[in-house]
Amino acid sequence: MKIGIMGAGAIAMKMAKTLNLMEEAQCYAVASRSLEKAEKFAADNGVLKAYGSYEDMLKDQQVELVYIATPHSHHYDCAKLCLAYRKPVLCEKAFMANAAQTREILDAFEKADLFITEAIWTRYLPSRRMIDEVVASGELGEITFVTANLGADVQWKDRLQKPELAGGALLDVGIYPLNFISMVLGTEVEEITSSCTKTASGVDEQNAVILKFKNGAMAIAHSGMLSVTEQYGIVYGTKGYLIAEGVNNVQKLKVYDKARQLKWERDVPEQLTGFEDEVRASIKAIEEGKKECEEMPHKETLRMMEMMDGLRRDWGVKFPFEEQ
Ligand SMILES: NC(=O)c1ccc[n+]([C@@H]2O[C@H](COP(=O)([O-])OP(=O)(O)OC[C@H]3O[C@@H](n4cnc5c(N)ncnc54)[C@H](OP(=O)(O)O)[C@@H]3O)[C@@H](O)[C@H]2O)c1
Repeated sequence: MKIGIMGAGAIAMKMAKTLNLMEEAQCYAVASRSLEKAEKFAADNGVLKAYGSYEDMLKDQQVELVYIATPHSHHYDCAKLCLAYRKPVLCEKAFMANAAQTREILDAFEKADLFITEAIWTRYLPSRRMIDEVVASGELGEITFVTANLGADVQWKDRLQKPELAGGALLDVGIYPLNFISMVLGTEVEEITSSCTKTASGVDEQNAVILKFKNGAMAIAHSGMLSVTEQYGIVYGTKGYLIAEGVNNVQKLKVYDKARQLKWERDVPEQLTGFEDEVRASIKAIEEGKKECEEMPHKETLRMMEMMDGLRRDWGVKFPFEEQ
């Protein structure tokens, strides 16, 4: 399948590398707001065609799937443009800047009978099934608590500091611990409490979230752009616990028993880059005539955006384009 990349930034490079390693996908086109930048990106990253506007790439009949790799603030406009040209979409996380945009885009794509999915790679990775299997096996006993965190000193990133680019830690890195917790404990959240500290520009720079589930299980997520964290997801049960190393791309699982002794550890299957699974899932869904990926249904994308809206509301973090 011929893929077109929208936005020639950092993550676009990783996707180009991935596509060039895949057999079922072709790194066909890249679009930038600047033709010069698109041409340089194409030359450096093995892309066949370069376009100097997003719209020009969409006019290319050969593009079969668009990967949106712009800041969260721009996913909405980019997706609307893809819809106008009837192009299926794999859109980077956070899917949109808020739930209202998400609802509108999902609704429009569903009505247009067009495929769109969120490129939240952890939902598509084999590590997800590996964790599910451990939990379902009963080896950990009853799961009562999950913790997950993602943090690094990335405060220098312009995009994260700027409210107009839907900056802040939550939508950029906080989405991973929240997805990890949701994949293990499900959707029946009863109560959420949280807090954050903010940058001078008014977006969250680090945050902590406590979730209580209807079945009595609890979870704590924290994320930030300041401190280096170990980035573990930990699943605690009555018979032991599991540590997933790398909450945004699990590399290793370790299971400990009741006496806190290591029972076993297992590596995940070898990866190209880790992005291949979301691309393969998109291709499969499109070829089967589906409008969403079963790994990340639209309903779940919307639920996660609603949860993050709620957190930002509690913190008083609003993006300028959300002002009335
Ligand atoms: N899955 C992952 O592991 C992962 C990791 C990092 C980021 N991401 C996601 O990928 C998306 C892009 O992140 P990134 O780190 O690649 O960002 P980035 O390096 O800043 O690149 C974003 C690109 O978007 C385009 N763009 C369009 N309008 C823009 C504007 N007003 N200001 C700045 N850029 C604009 C630019 O491309 P042109 O100038 O070429 O048009 C820019 O290069 C975000 O949604 C982010 O959450 C995902």
